[in-house]
Amino acid sequence: MLLKDKKLLITGVLTPQSIAYGVAELAIKEGAEVILTSFGRPMSLTQRTAKKLGATPPEVLELDVTNPEHFPKLTETLKAKWGRVDGVLHAIAYAPEDALGGKFLTTPWESVQQAFRVSTFSLKELSAAVAPLMTNGGSIVTLDFDNSTQAWPLYDWMGVCKAALGSTVRYLARDLGPKGIRVNALAAGPIATIAAKGIPGFKHLENKWGSQAPLGWDARSDAASDAVARTVCVMLSDWMPKTTGEQIRVDGGFHALGAEPVTLPLVETPPAAPTT
Ligand SMILES: NC(=O)c1ccc[n+]([C@@H]2O[C@H](COP(=O)([O-])OP(=O)(O)OC[C@H]3O[C@@H](n4cnc5c(N)ncnc54)[C@H](O)[C@@H]3O)[C@@H](O)[C@H]2O)c1
Repeated sequence: MLLKDKKLLITGVLTPQSIAYGVAELAIKEGAEVILTSFGRPMSLTQRTAKKLGATPPEVLELDVTNPEHFPKLTETLKAKWGRVDGVLHAIAYAPEDALGGKFLTTPWESVQQAFRVSTFSLKELSAAVAPLMTNGGSIVTLDFDNSTQAWPLYDWMGVCKAALGSTVRYLARDLGPKGIRVNALAAGPIATIAAKGIPGFKHLENKWGSQAPLGWDARSDAASDAVARTVCVMLSDWMPKTTGEQIRVDGGFHALGAEPVTLPLVETPPAAPTT
């Protein structure tokens, strides 16, 4: 089994559609011991969702990434329960409504700050909290969108936060590599989760992906979320021992094409001869 005896902390499970849910389900199947996190009002939804993960559902710990007191508590609790941690999935993002949807030029700093704190800075906070417990080395994986080099319609400040997330991955890889801890991002194509449906214009993105990805991409299919879950599990396993600071794309190959493919007739039909 790929993740036999691995102790994995998985954030971001909200509903069974959450990307993190697919990862938790597969990781358990592959032999991992899993603990989840959630916070505030969504906590009860996460607890209900966790029950679908098996007869002995994973425990759910409190972690609101905007509360600095939660991180040392998380370290203490994990230390008491497990003594060590082998892998972490960071699957957390949020942007206020006025930071998305074409309001880029008018978004106030307070909203940008909130989006950055939850979606980007939280990776540093979480990594710093678990790194001391990664005594056998470890793997930290975050979920990105293919965003570091391009601007997308309507994605706005979340796009900027995701670009900064890629950069955060590289700095963490620099600082945690000497401790044997790998830090990587998986850039997923669109998947119809609660967070995604909150992005205005998600449908447009979804359709664009479907027509451009050479391997095909259906944001509502199990195939897309399963592909992401499998790749995260490999990244959390011992099978990528020398990869860090990297962004691995699971997007059906969308990024490799400059525009959607066109099919022209191989032989142009000559114009019909004029009839007399
Ligand atoms: N769905 C997609 O199309 C897509 C594509 C690429 C990347 N991603 C990324 O995947 C990750 C998971 O998103 P998802 O699509 O599975 O949606 P989701 O809504 O299921 O997950 C988002 C999670 O963020 C958590 N969260 C928000 N604010 C938080 C806070 N203050 N403290 C702790 N947790 C908080 C929510 O509780 C939720 O569990 C996000 O980083 C998202 O940007 C999603």
